[in-house]
Amino acid sequence: MTELDLDVHRSTADITDALRADVRAGLTAERKWLPPKWFYDARGSELFEEITALPEYYPTRSEREVLAARSAEIAEVTGAHTLVELGSGSSEKTRLLLDGLTEHGTLEAFVPLDVSESALAEAAEAISADYPKLEVRGVVGDFTEHLGLLPGGQPRLVVFLGGTIGNFLPADRAQFLRSVREVVDEGEWLLLGTDLVKDRETLERAYDDSAGVTADFNRNVLRVINERLGADFDPEAFDHVSHWDEEQEWVEMRLRAREAHTVRIPGAGLEVGFAAGEYIRTEISAKFRPEKVEAELAAAGFAVEQWWTDSAKRFGVTLARSVRG
Ligand code: SAH
Ligand code: AVI
Repeated sequence: MTELDLDVHRSTADITDALRADVRAGLTAERKWLPPKWFYDARGSELFEEITALPEYYPTRSEREVLAARSAEIAEVTGAHTLVELGSGSSEKTRLLLDGLTEHGTLEAFVPLDVSESALAEAAEAISADYPKLEVRGVVGDFTEHLGLLPGGQPRLVVFLGGTIGNFLPADRAQFLRSVREVVDEGEWLLLGTDLVKDRETLERAYDDSAGVTADFNRNVLRVINERLGADFDPEAFDHVSHWDEEQEWVEMRLRAREAHTVRIPGAGLEVGFAAGEYIRTEISAKFRPEKVEAELAAAGFAVEQWWTDSAKRFGVTLARSVRG
């Protein structure tokens, strides 16, 4: 525990071991890839916050519009005593829910969980200061590994905002939803933000802004590998690519080598060759249709209670109740 009351489930050595394993798996694959969680060191978390304010990046504004309109109703329906937030980042939009639940009078504790210690510490400190009666219990951890350790009195409302569910591959997404269902009891709640399928131009521009912030965010994963594993990636040797895959219904972010070259990654015992034009897939961001959200939640053991969108119908927010498994 730090003085900020954060539970830290990962040591620096654990993180480096996990990165090494992911780099070995992803960069020796036939089609190179890296998991998106490695974007989020302190700089990556700051870049993500900048992204949320970009004119092209609509998801944050759209989701905020829904939360602003519905937080009182969410508080009324759930009567939550604990708000657990997965991949909480700055928890900025979550304040709307904290306000709704505080006014309703049931909320006792807020448990944000994130891999990014810097983002979590900053958010937990600010929220503790602004909500002095609330018990704030930050957890630094991985939401694919550390869900079993979440504290808090019932009923709990687990929130997963921003469309981060879209950053899982489909099989991992199903596994993740099942693991959330396993840690909640029947009758507890999940609030899920999902970005929706829309036209190619809007989607590709949301991930390739004119100020170049998303490109910088994308290249940050290479800086993280340089710092943790002593690699010699030149981030500027890669072009940032945003590609809407219509068949899979996801936006793919890529880093595409401008020229043929070799990168040394001593901390992973690797030398990785890139052909000109060869790319690393660094993130998928799946976009949803309402019936798919409902079906995937049902398969994991959640029944949809309410479904809302913003006025432009760009982003969906689902309130679901856990049902008998
Ligand atoms: N929920 C916020 C932040 C979204 S950005 C919003 O809606 O704006 C995604 C967040 O998830 C980042 O803060 C990142 O650090 C965190 N994250 C990504 N992968 C994670 C993982 N495997 N476990 C825990 N947190 C993760
Ligand atoms: C965190 N996640 C939902 C963001 C997204 O839109 O998929 C991450 C992001 N990648 C590029 N821009 C934002």
